[in-house]
Amino acid sequence: MKLGILGSGIVGRTLGAGFASRGHPVRLGTRFPARPELRHWVHSQAGDARVVSFAEAARFGDAVVLATDWKGTEHALELARPAHLAGKVVIDATNPLDFSSGMPPRLDIGHSDSGGEQVQRWLPGARVVKAFNTVIARHMVGPKCPGAAPAMWIAGNDDEAKNEVAGLLEELGWQTLDAGALSQARLLEPLALLVLCRVVQTGRDDFLVQPLEIPATGKE
Ligand SMILES: NC(=O)c1ccc[n+]([C@@H]2O[C@H](COP(=O)([O-])OP(=O)(O)OC[C@H]3O[C@@H](n4cnc5c(N)ncnc54)[C@H](OP(=O)(O)O)[C@@H]3O)[C@@H](O)[C@H]2O)c1
Repeated sequence: MKLGILGSGIVGRTLGAGFASRGHPVRLGTRFPARPELRHWVHSQAGDARVVSFAEAARFGDAVVLATDWKGTEHALELARPAHLAGKVVIDATNPLDFSSGMPPRLDIGHSDSGGEQVQRWLPGARVVKAFNTVIARHMVGPKCPGAAPAMWIAGNDDEAKNEVAGLLEELGWQTLDAGALSQARLLEPLALLVLCRVVQTGRDDFLVQPLEIPATGKE
């Protein structure tokens, strides 16, 4: 499956590298393809991975991952051109976070709406599936979890699209936990903020993939 990645941050680069290493041709979209660190990223990939414009990444992908800063997401989708995404699975890894008051951030949208549903409104022809938003980037590919593969929450309105995403998640080392319709992103996005708050509080993110060996309360 050809994969377009909209976003050149840590999530886009991590997932792009993960999919390329599993044999998927990958095009990573950005406004600035010539940036030296992105050239370096391309050279460090074993598979077919290139850095291109948002529009080219959207056009290229059979499925497309959305991994942009929330405040820039609408602009990035305009640059990607919604027509390039019509009918395609769009895996929404974003969280609608507002960092303007410092750390931890606040949710920019929620309770009666979600970033996932807003992305679907921006891309009415696409089949949006929320995924990856509740885990920290460094665990997204090949999570090191003793025993069974850890579980990744997803949400979306199209069962076929969710099956495609579940297949991709399995390749990256995850089991899928289907939260239901895309409106369940109203719960998955606050969950992501809860995870981020705990990371900020404890300085650790291994609780996402390790059995808990810590007191239920208090700091490690
Ligand atoms: N970091 C994590 O561990 C983590 C985990 C789960 C979910 N998430 C979510 O995943 C998303 C990506 O996170 P990240 O940390 O990888 O990167 P990020 O710094 O949040 O976003 C980087 C991307 O956003 C694009 N962008 C920013 N402003 C833009 C604008 N005005 N117009 C168009 N594009 C713009 C950048 O484009 P250029 O390439 O052109 O600069 C870049 O590709 C976020 O929504 C985040 O909340 C992050």
